[in-house]
Amino acid sequence: MKNVRLAAAEILLNVVDEGRSLSDELPRALADIEPDQQAFLQQLVYGSTRYYFALDELIQAMVAKPIKAKERLVHMLLAVGLYQLWHLDVAEHAAINETVEATLAAKRTWAKNLVNASLRRFQRERDALLADLRRTESFPGWLNKRLRQAWPEHYSDICRQSNVQGPMTLRVNAKHLSREAWLAKADAEGIVAQATAHSAVGATLVSPAPVFALPGFEQGDVSVQDEAAQMCARLLNVKDGERVLDACAAPGGKTGHLLESANIDMTALDVDEKRLSRVAENLTRIQQSAKLVAADAAELDSWWDGEPFDAILLDAPCSGTGVIRRHPDIKLLRKSADIKQLSQVQKKLLSQLWQTLKPGGRLLYATCSILPDENSEQIENFLAHHSDVIALEVDLPPDVDTEHGIQWLPQEGGHDGFYYAMLRKQAI
Ligand SMILES: C[S@@+](CC[C@H](N)C(=O)[O-])C[C@H]1O[C@@H](n2cnc3c(N)ncnc32)[C@H](O)[C@@H]1O
Repeated sequence: MKNVRLAAAEILLNVVDEGRSLSDELPRALADIEPDQQAFLQQLVYGSTRYYFALDELIQAMVAKPIKAKERLVHMLLAVGLYQLWHLDVAEHAAINETVEATLAAKRTWAKNLVNASLRRFQRERDALLADLRRTESFPGWLNKRLRQAWPEHYSDICRQSNVQGPMTLRVNAKHLSREAWLAKADAEGIVAQATAHSAVGATLVSPAPVFALPGFEQGDVSVQDEAAQMCARLLNVKDGERVLDACAAPGGKTGHLLESANIDMTALDVDEKRLSRVAENLTRIQQSAKLVAADAAELDSWWDGEPFDAILLDAPCSGTGVIRRHPDIKLLRKSADIKQLSQVQKKLLSQLWQTLKPGGRLLYATCSILPDENSEQIENFLAHHSDVIALEVDLPPDVDTEHGIQWLPQEGGHDGFYYAMLRKQAI
């Protein structure tokens, strides 16, 4: 079995230097870790990714000579060690000794003294070192700039909220049982959960639990889904018999919710065939089915039979800046140039899918982004170039004012950051 701190440093190296995602790296690594250490690995990896920019700054302030490019693993071991001392409730001597042990396990004997001395220095000079940090919140410069520009009054809160782990929220399958019935079952098993404020089928756990411990999970009575994501089905409000398209469906969270909401004729599309197989798995568990199509939604000739849809959900590919608290690697993996490229994809998807909507039909444009380029400005541009669109009011309280649609920001103990715009096609 692998040394847990070494495993964490290796994952961090793959995320920072190789651009790999935590959701790919972590499950692979868990198999080599003692079961009683797996939660700790997750904590180390999420935390050191979340605070990487600040940890990197600390290392640069403490290490006289930059660590050589081929020895970046030592840099990551230091980051993991510093994260424990700074943020975790681990005994300091254990954090230091075990990180030195991990350096030996990594066969970097030469770095033993460097790791030991740096961590001990942090222990002694913690306040002064932290006071000098420019990036305490640990956001990349480009994103700092965009967020400050977009939401000057909310900027600090957004950064703070994005560094706090989001709650575990569930969606109760309305075709199986009511939320109240599920809450009673959970209560009987000692699981404490509270009804969500905006979703009639949402329940937030007071502390996270493994899914298989949740009553009825295997039979599809509940699914893990943030309250903000649950708003999509609430807003699209599909009715029995409607022909519905979920244009960017994988892994199928919202497809499932739409199917639980009414008896509809559902087409679920995604360009990524592998991710689409997860839609199939998720629908099987909740005992629902849909027509699944692997295709680029913007290439209508490749998938559309010409029959228009009553309702379309476009949960567009986006920067994910509203869900950084759940995916801290977004801070490291996204680059400024991605925003322009993503907004072009969103624009194309929106204008192409508009053609597949029935006159009188509705399209919900949604993203888990908090950047106006992908949200309000995207809708502004769409309205400017289409004369047959009516922008409908979205029945949700906004967290910030926007020209078009509703913008939610991540809330402690509450929903993720999300954006919604509801568009109706004029009837002829
Ligand atoms: C935000 S995720 C969707 C999450 C999903 N709606 C859910 O609730 O589980 C965006 C999805 O869009 C897909 N995608 C990106 N470009 C696409 C395109 N041109 N056509 C169809 N799907 C696309 C991605 O593969 C990704 O699965």
